[in-house]
Amino acid sequence: MEALIGLDVGTSGVKALALSPDGAVLSRAEAEYPLSTPRPGWAEQNPEDWWHGAERVLHELDVDHALGLGLTGQMHGLVVLDSSDRVLRPALLWNDQRTEAECAAIEERVGLERLIELTGNRALPGFTAPKVLWLRRAEPEVFRRIAALLLPKDYVRLRLTGEYATDVSDASGTLLFDVRKRRWSQELAEALELPSEWLPPAYESPAQVGATSSGAAVAAGAGDQAAAAVGVGIVRPGPLSIVLGTSGVVFGVLPAYGSEPEARLHVFCHAVPGTWHAMGVMLAAAGSLSWLREATGRAPYETLLAEAAAWPPATGGLIFAPYLAGERTPHTDARARGAFVGLELRHDRGALTRAVLEGVAFALRDSLELIRALGLEVEEARVSGGGARGMLWLRIVAAVLGIPVKRTAVEEGSAYGAALLGGVAAGVFSSVQEAGARCVSISEVVEPDPSWAAIYEEAYPRFRALYPALAPFRPGAGC
Ligand code: XUL
Repeated sequence: MEALIGLDVGTSGVKALALSPDGAVLSRAEAEYPLSTPRPGWAEQNPEDWWHGAERVLHELDVDHALGLGLTGQMHGLVVLDSSDRVLRPALLWNDQRTEAECAAIEERVGLERLIELTGNRALPGFTAPKVLWLRRAEPEVFRRIAALLLPKDYVRLRLTGEYATDVSDASGTLLFDVRKRRWSQELAEALELPSEWLPPAYESPAQVGATSSGAAVAAGAGDQAAAAVGVGIVRPGPLSIVLGTSGVVFGVLPAYGSEPEARLHVFCHAVPGTWHAMGVMLAAAGSLSWLREATGRAPYETLLAEAAAWPPATGGLIFAPYLAGERTPHTDARARGAFVGLELRHDRGALTRAVLEGVAFALRDSLELIRALGLEVEEARVSGGGARGMLWLRIVAAVLGIPVKRTAVEEGSAYGAALLGGVAAGVFSSVQEAGARCVSISEVVEPDPSWAAIYEEAYPRFRALYPALAPFRPGAGC
């Protein structure tokens, strides 16, 4: 049977998905690999593990005729290769925090305003360029031998097809890419004194770049969030993609390139040629709920959600700030911390749970407000990720954001969007828009409840007022 394949090189493992040309899921396979944290705040993986995992899951899919294949994966990671394509050291990942000093140096060298103008972003420790500068300082013997830099999915592409390549959405997260012009920035490479020959050619996401040994067309692919958005049909300005995973994402396609003046949101090229997207990433979304569950005796999620549903919206004034792991957008503050504010004797576990669900929804709204300020008319949100399974959470998100929240019939995340891109590369679909229109359908709609929305409108400014008070307190550290 003919199939389209999506391959997602994630952080905990690699996932492969086979679709029929009309978008039905035929088979899926997953393989895990370890994450190493040699020091606090460091996060590394062995690119060889990605490749072995990818080989295994592609084999397990058991597809006899693949027409197209799309690659996606964790963004921002740094793979360094020597002139014989040997991996020089373990890859530094998107969640690695070791490059604070390099980020300050980049903003200083390029100038913050110019950096935001060119890349749509600030220098964040997870991004790729600061990692290269860290290698130059901390591991000069490795740095000296570098001949090529690749992002995680692109290393797997190299092994799969022999091509050095990336796509514009993933390249956008390197801080070396001119996001407006959709090409590598000579100015940035020069400012950071990095050879531009190290960078692979960057293509639009659905473009065909090489083929597998069995002849399947391989698409340039996309970063995981852009691919996830394609997978739920976010291919034009209007609908948002919201992901309620461990972290939380609000993703909207922009009518034209434009960056937020302080870059409190990410602006990257989207996987639909000629479009851009703005994206807010909060670090603890469903992660806040799993923290609460661990901290309060590991009751099943259904129990927690039923207890939360027994409380009215805003639980009489209890508010939760979800900065348990610091925060990325809009605060860009690794040291921000979480809080419950407004506790009363009558509040029980259900009240705490409800406040967590609401606090996460308020934090998503922070990003939504910034996306709206970039000129996007937001119509609805399509929500995916583990947290999207709870109806109560969807009702809260719809009321806090004031837009209908929808679930799609197939929920396979980034791998699904990648397979659709593979379908465009293979000529099965004429465009990413057509792939979305043919394969993505809505299974459930949750409208905002006006009485809840009115209460949340009152509570939201109280949530906004919390963050400035959540600066770190380090006992004994003086002032
Ligand atoms: C996007 C981001 C994450 C990683 C890992 O900016 O940091 O989505 O790609 O999933």
